Amino acid sequence: MEIYGASRHLSQINLRFDQTFTFRPTTVRCNLFPEAKEFPELSTGNQMFILGMGFVGKFFAADLKNKGWVVRGSCTSTGKKKQLEELGYSAYAFDANDPQDEVLELVKNHTHLVISVPPLKGVGDPILYHEGLLERALKGGRLRWLVYLSSTSVYGDSGGAWVDENYPVKPESELARARLAAEEQWLCFGENLGIAAHVFRLGGIYGPGRSAIDTILKQGPMSKGQKERLLKDYTSRVHVADICRALHASILHPSPGKIYNIVDDDPAPREEVFEFARKLVEEKLPGHVYAESGEPVLVSKKPSKSAKRVSNARMKKELGVNLRYPSYRSGLGGIMEKMAPGS
Ligand SMILES: NC(=O)c1ccc[n+]([C@@H]2O[C@H](COP(=O)([O-])OP(=O)(O)OC[C@H]3O[C@@H](n4cnc5c(N)ncnc54)[C@H](OP(=O)(O)O)[C@@H]3O)[C@@H](O)[C@H]2O)c1
Repeated sequence: MEIYGASRHLSQINLRFDQTFTFRPTTVRCNLFPEAKEFPELSTGNQMFILGMGFVGKFFAADLKNKGWVVRGSCTSTGKKKQLEELGYSAYAFDANDPQDEVLELVKNHTHLVISVPPLKGVGDPILYHEGLLERALKGGRLRWLVYLSSTSVYGDSGGAWVDENYPVKPESELARARLAAEEQWLCFGENLGIAAHVFRLGGIYGPGRSAIDTILKQGPMSKGQKERLLKDYTSRVHVADICRALHASILHPSPGKIYNIVDDDPAPREEVFEFARKLVEEKLPGHVYAESGEPVLVSKKPSKSAKRVSNARMKKELGVNLRYPSYRSGLGGIMEKMAPGS
């Protein structure tokens, strides 16, 4: 999406974001590059590139747009590119397995970068698979801040204990191990490039269009996999609006090399969340609950495989994030309100 409108926010943001900051041992400054001539708006202010305009990427792009940012992003196919363009986004097809020079050139001329592309089995992080190419392409550009969106899966199973960022990581699946490796690589990449790189370990992401309410309303009877996932005990989650709050906070307070857990205050078993969602739907949209309504939610007799309660203390203390949805109760309540106006 192209955003040129000057807003009250933009002038405030620019005052703060155009500051330079020192990162061992390089001082990062905004530069005007010849390539910027092709994209005049790239020569000033803050521009965000989102590698992977998926669920979080689109939500954050809309949020930034409201605050007057220039935002561009990528997806994997021309079909999705078209869909994103129809929604008003400026999108580029980008396959991390075969990174296109033109897209990297664009990224280079943005000041901020969100990496939302997940790792692949047998490959690891598909973008950093081409690390040398990427570093050459982005060196000397305008980038000064990046965040890699990771997952709390790197902690493995703590048996339900609270885990903070200092808790020993114990990834238990190949993908979780790939996540951990990608975190380290992106932080290293940022340091080599002389920019502030961060890792956000996200809990289960939910929001409008992707929540327990949507599952109940749209998907009919639960699949075996969904039922099995219901069997786990404590898991942490986060509303997409609060991921955006944390992203903004990090942009305002860059802290090179820092890892943050991005979760709400209320880790809870999935069966509890689904039970709450089912009651909300029954109350606010009577008649919409799938035929399974009334069946008791499955309760596990099996031991949990990834039980943990993830602490967000660092996010609150160091980034000053004030959660809009501290619990799945307020988060699902907000989603339901938008679905059932007047409820
Ligand atoms: N879902 C969760 O609960 C959860 C929890 C913790 C962490 N995470 C991670 O947090 C990040 C953001 O989550 P999300 O839900 O917004 O993810 P998402 O909706 O799946 O978006 C991922 C984006 O990455 C792009 N992508 C995937 N493979 C790619 C490749 N090989 N090359 C280039 N682009 C590629 C996708 O392109 P297309 O748009 O073309 O598909 C999509 O835009 C993801 O890495 C996700 O795995 C998710």
